[in-house]
Amino acid sequence: MQFTTQALNFSIHPYQAGSRPPVTKPNPEFLQEIGEEEMRALLERFYTKLHQSPIREIFPPTIEEMKSAGDTSADFFIQICGGPDYFNQRRGAPQMVKRHAPFPITPEARLHWLCLFEEALQPIIKEKQSSEANIQSFWNYLNTFSLWMVNTPA
Ligand code: HEM
Repeated sequence: MQFTTQALNFSIHPYQAGSRPPVTKPNPEFLQEIGEEEMRALLERFYTKLHQSPIREIFPPTIEEMKSAGDTSADFFIQICGGPDYFNQRRGAPQMVKRHAPFPITPEARLHWLCLFEEALQPIIKEKQSSEANIQSFWNYLNTFSLWMVNTPA
């Protein structure tokens, strides 16, 4: 599929303690364009990068466990993008803030997390698997909702 180009904006909202801005779900067209298989590949790339990153200590220690965690995350992202509710079926209600509570997520860890997600998105951008407007919508979701996951001061 070919799409016209416009400027993608991967800027990151600064973290402000206690702020939980409203979150807009990604445009379902993002999933429709890339497909479930590519969503799983995206999360596998992302979790492989997390495994080699400065924030690896808050994640499971082995690459096998990270691949499995990436697959669970893909269940969630497929669901939030309007696909089948795999996450609810396999793990129950998302309750993302509660699920992240055991892990110390600092504002700096959030920045690493977002930068690695941006890297993992690059093949989708380069291969024009989705329109830039829909990639932007996915990024905007990550940018805003990740603010909610910060639970530990810098
Ligand atoms: C848009 C924001 C985010 C979403 C949608 C998200 C999504 C998820 C999902 C679906 C899980 C699996 C939960 C489970 O199965 O119980 C998870 C786990 C986890 N997340 Fe996030 N997350 C976000 C932000 C972050 C950030 C900013 C960090 C840290 C910098 C982080 C660190 C973790 C850790 C340590 C786990 C547990 C290990 C794992 O299963 O990966 N998350 N996240």
